[in-house]
Amino acid sequence: MDRLAPKIPRQRRAFSTLGGPVAVGGEPGPARILRDLFAVDPALARALTHGFHSYAGRMHPTIARGAIAAFSQPGETVVDPFCGSGTVLVEAMAAGRAAIGVDASPLGTAIARVRTTLLGAAERERLVAEAVRVAEEAGERARKRRRPEGPAWARGEIARFHAHVLYELLGLRELVFATPDDGVGLALRLCLSSILVKFMKAGPEAPRDGLTKRIARGVPSRMLADRAAELAAGLVAIERRMPAGTPAPKVHEGDARELPIPNGRAALVLSSPPYAGTYDYATQHETRFAWLGLSPRVFRRVQLGARTAAIGKVGVDSWRVAEERFIAEIARVLRPGGQALLVVGDGVVGVRSEHAPEIGRAHV
Ligand SMILES: C[S@@+](CC[C@H](N)C(=O)[O-])C[C@H]1O[C@@H](n2cnc3c(N)ncnc32)[C@H](O)[C@@H]1O
Repeated sequence: MDRLAPKIPRQRRAFSTLGGPVAVGGEPGPARILRDLFAVDPALARALTHGFHSYAGRMHPTIARGAIAAFSQPGETVVDPFCGSGTVLVEAMAAGRAAIGVDASPLGTAIARVRTTLLGAAERERLVAEAVRVAEEAGERARKRRRPEGPAWARGEIARFHAHVLYELLGLRELVFATPDDGVGLALRLCLSSILVKFMKAGPEAPRDGLTKRIARGVPSRMLADRAAELAAGLVAIERRMPAGTPAPKVHEGDARELPIPNGRAALVLSSPPYAGTYDYATQHETRFAWLGLSPRVFRRVQLGARTAAIGKVGVDSWRVAEERFIAEIARVLRPGGQALLVVGDGVVGVRSEHAPEIGRAHV
């Protein structure tokens, strides 16, 4: 799809075409709608909390918004069995749909929960005020060169961050984790997780210029406060768009091969399943798991199609069985006449590449 696209510098962005031609097939009506979905609107990339937290393989909000409008009605239920950071859930609730998301990653579900919990005006104010308080205290400690104790695992983090940055981030972590473990507390923890990679000098998510960038004391703290303000503004924007009476989305940590959803509930299943052999979400996000105190143990076991050190390690048989199971689950939760739209990238299965249009064909 992107063979003819202009060369652009590497940057983190949601899944989208890069301006190349879009080939379509199948029934002309839906094919036209699908082609139009790929004309993404860059303005949506940070709207409604979409820019709050980076996440590998995010769906572009334009695709989610257009698909929900085209293939479901207000009041109906939209299900995303691989909801990741919650792009589909946010767009579904903003469009007045009941939304249910499932993901095996505790990081994905934490981000999705924070992005779909509107908190209410008073709690949002508390979020912003707490973030400013925490940022001021951590910034002050950093300028006075006070070293926080830090948990034992954090000693190894010196490989990922410059020392003064690591101490300031650990100071922020200590203060953030001292706040109550409620909606605001979870949001603050995710604000910390969202800024971590900006300051890495090494690791799977480190920015390219991470080794050379000079980061002044106080910058991480200010960024945390800014993130909280951005999140609160995004939640307000969702609330303004959302029709009255829209239920709060449900987010489950679970396996897409056994969805905790009754038969026939969904009018639309809209999802972006893992692309075979392309990402390893547990390794990719290992820093955030550690800093948030989340265990990747169960996730490592149930994660589908993970890319391992050696390419070609996603076995043909196990991938086909997994694919068959999650597609059967999607069929089970759809109501008669309901539709499923899967956004998939090319992958590697066994020793050969698998192009997106082939995916799932064997099971439909
Ligand atoms: C392409 S990403 C989805 C990203 C999402 N659409 C977004 O916008 O953030 C694929 C997701 O599949 C999840 N996943 C992998 N194996 C899973 C399983 N067995 N059950 C549920 N989710 C799984 C990963 O954790 C990852 O979040």
